[in-house]
Amino acid sequence: MRIVLLGSPGSGKGTQASCIEKEFGIPHISTGDIFRDNISRNTTIGAEAKKFIERGLLVPDSLTVSIVESRLVEEDCNEGFLLDGFPRNIAQAEALDKDLEKMEKKLDAVVNLEVSAETIIERMAGRRICSDCGESYNLCFLKPAVDGICDKCGGKLYIREDDKPETVMNRLNVYKNQTFPLIDYYKGKGILISVNGEQPADKVYGDICRALERFK
Ligand code: AP5
Ligand code: MG
Repeated sequence: MRIVLLGSPGSGKGTQASCIEKEFGIPHISTGDIFRDNISRNTTIGAEAKKFIERGLLVPDSLTVSIVESRLVEEDCNEGFLLDGFPRNIAQAEALDKDLEKMEKKLDAVVNLEVSAETIIERMAGRRICSDCGESYNLCFLKPAVDGICDKCGGKLYIREDDKPETVMNRLNVYKNQTFPLIDYYKGKGILISVNGEQPADKVYGDICRALERFK
């Protein structure tokens, strides 16, 4: 099963992707996570990506597309994958189409998480991430049992660098201008599935599972 998770920053892509990955047994590929991992390891890719991420801008397509291309040919992607945060503009979507065509494969579905701008801002302000295992929490919606500590591994929770209010506004503008048009792009291909992302995370997940059942 080859799936793309689409949605504005903070819409819940990462939260849903970790559940889908387990249930459907396909690797979760998040370009944002790949960049953050490179930044934390001080790689050349990380240094280049950081310049854009900290301003809330998209990392250039040439770098992003080549990272995804090399990831998709890895063995664990043979039976499918779940892309989170890629594609993020029409050029990336076209590049993905071409790559899949070369591999004689195609996307099964694009799941779009629909969430209002007010909810997005609230969610991003409350997001906390585990510095050890990467688990995502939210001070308003998905609180950890003990303040500042991960329920799963006991790691310390931190605020993501690009969740500062001024960077969030840039990310939302980039989404509106560059990523939002992908909804029509995939609608046109007949593979768009829209899900109400305003609901509690487990309800959103239930809706996604029902929609994806036929591709299992
Ligand atoms: P990326 O890491 O992809 O970030 P994003 O798209 O901005 O999305 P987020 O990770 O912020 O949110 P999410 O949708 O995963 O929501 P989450 O589940 O965490 O990209 C970061 C940057 O990298 C980009 O700005 C760009 O610079 C660069 N980049 C990445 N991909 C790129 C590409 N393809 N091209 C160029 N540049 C690229 O949830 C958010 C919060 O809400 C959490 O606290 C969570 O606990 C909570 N929550 C989730 N679901 C619910 C729910 N149903 N109810 C209540 N709370 C919920
Ligand atoms: Mg994410």
